[in-house]
Amino acid sequence: MPKKYRKIVFLTGAGISAESGLATFRGGNGLWNNRNVDDVATIQAFYNNRNDVLGFYNELRNEIATAEPNAAHFAMTRLQQKFPGEVYILTQNVDTLHEKAQSNNVCHIHGQINKIRCMHCNNVWETWNGITAEALCPFCQAKESLRPDIVFFGEEIMFTPVVRELLRSADLFIAAGTSGEIPPASDFVREACKNGAAALAFNLEPPANSACFDRIILGKAGETLPKFVDTLLAAV
Ligand code: OAD
Repeated sequence: MPKKYRKIVFLTGAGISAESGLATFRGGNGLWNNRNVDDVATIQAFYNNRNDVLGFYNELRNEIATAEPNAAHFAMTRLQQKFPGEVYILTQNVDTLHEKAQSNNVCHIHGQINKIRCMHCNNVWETWNGITAEALCPFCQAKESLRPDIVFFGEEIMFTPVVRELLRSADLFIAAGTSGEIPPASDFVREACKNGAAALAFNLEPPANSACFDRIILGKAGETLPKFVDTLLAAV
């Protein structure tokens, strides 16, 4: 670590939760190998085949409900607790493993699988129970108005102002467990670097946006991140 950092911003993706037993989206056993994105993960699919889409996310919610954080999540929490600067986590993951690992300052740019939103009254609430197209909103009783509070393809990410401010002010940007294929998250590294941040990627294989990083650390995040956190903390 050539300099002392004051503000570290992580961007995490599905790879960070792989060692917790959750499938990634792309690659060998990726979710999108078995299911067509256009059938279950777009806003059009949601309006056309609501029960199919809700069923897909009900299953995913069940799997995620029992998953436990791994060494990568805990390493990030340790950094947040011991680093004498600020550490933020932007995550594309709809799981809640950063929270289960007691991390704070977690921003779910693709939403959370354990939150439901009513499209009629806009109330959002937490639940690990499944929903059906016929379920009524418990707040306004609207019919056919419930959806997972997650971002479908074709929708804007959440918390854009927070993201922009973090990418403006970070002096170290770290992407971990993300393929770097899906914008706008895949462009965050460019924005952070344009604003003066150094950039590292921790991934099993070189991500699609590799050229943007100062260094790429290959390996399982559950092994590489704890070592990196040790190094970073030893230097401060
Ligand atoms: P991907 O499935 O595209 O990429 C996961 C990355 O993690 C791959 O590059 C793997 O090589 C890497 N990986 C796997 N296991 C790992 C491990 N143990 N340690 C480190 N790296 C590992 O997932 P995301 O990049 O998160 O969006 O995908 C981005 C978005 O595309 C998701 O949020 C989702 C998806 O479609 C929406 O649903 C809107």
